[in-house]
Amino acid sequence: MKIEIKKLNKVYPGGYKALDGIDLTINEGIFGLLGPNGAGKSTLMRILVTLMQPTSGEVLIDGRDISKHRRKVREMVGYLPQDFRFFAKLRSWEFLDYAARLAGMNSKKDRRERIDEMLTSVGLYEFRNRMANKLSGGMKRRLGIAQALIAYPSIIIVDEPTTGLDPEERIRFRNLMSDLSRTETIIILSTHIVGDISSTCNQMALLNEGALIYHGTPDLLVEKAKGYVWRAEVSQEEYEHLKEDYPIISTIPSGTGWEIQFVGEKPSSMKAHRVEPNLEHAYVHYMDNNLNHWNL
Ligand SMILES: Nc1ncnc2c1ncn2[C@@H]1O[C@H](COP(=O)(O)OP(=O)(O)O)[C@@H](O)[C@H]1O
Ligand SMILES: [Mg+2]
Repeated sequence: MKIEIKKLNKVYPGGYKALDGIDLTINEGIFGLLGPNGAGKSTLMRILVTLMQPTSGEVLIDGRDISKHRRKVREMVGYLPQDFRFFAKLRSWEFLDYAARLAGMNSKKDRRERIDEMLTSVGLYEFRNRMANKLSGGMKRRLGIAQALIAYPSIIIVDEPTTGLDPEERIRFRNLMSDLSRTETIIILSTHIVGDISSTCNQMALLNEGALIYHGTPDLLVEKAKGYVWRAEVSQEEYEHLKEDYPIISTIPSGTGWEIQFVGEKPSSMKAHRVEPNLEHAYVHYMDNNLNHWNL
């Protein structure tokens, strides 16, 4: 299975261009959509789940235009919106039952089994009788994840799924996605947190101001930041200077000055040591350059 996004544009009423000519192919596996707030991640996801129409361009799933197969798309897709909320007064399991029925699971017995399975997967089984709106923030998010997965979707689209999750819940979520990625599933997750794009994502894209500025593996993105990350000992004065021109990644007091790490072309006069880049460095490097279509 594959999703092809072609020349996708979205201009909101009022004229704001939220997506600017996105071309992207997404294959099976975990796809991480990374970008700062306002980059257009939610806009793209809402288009993918057919809740919103693009201004121009198209999205194909296995060659079929989603705008012509909306019902079919909605059957295939499990979606967690960024602003996921509960409206009805339901117990956690009842909420999942409702979601399962909406998704077309007609057998009560199948639903029961699946609900228990999902509640266990997201660690909410012991809270199954608690009212959904009385769950903690992290638990609500987990119930949101469960409702997205309940009807065995072949495409999973989760918008900022880790918001409000504590570190343990994040790990559980990551493992859950890894397990799912062993099946023939496309998982697309958006995040503004670099740490969420872990080794579990085999593909990723970087979105900035509606434009796709990178598409590839996380490793390759890191690779591209090689030679652009530096560590140096600087005085207070040098630090003040450097700060104006370079993204500073870390600052540790050292003697009367600072030991800093920064990203960019090293000033030739400066004594600095190369640092092995990580994904965070690479992200800063890319965003700082804002190089359009640098993906080779
Ligand atoms: N319904 C809307 N009407 C007008 N502008 C919108 C609307 N929704 C989002 N935007 C704008 O589009 C841009 C992208 O938003 P969004 O897709 O939510 O980004 P992200 O999910 O990456 O934070 C933002 O500048 C946002 O303010
Ligand atoms: Mg968003």
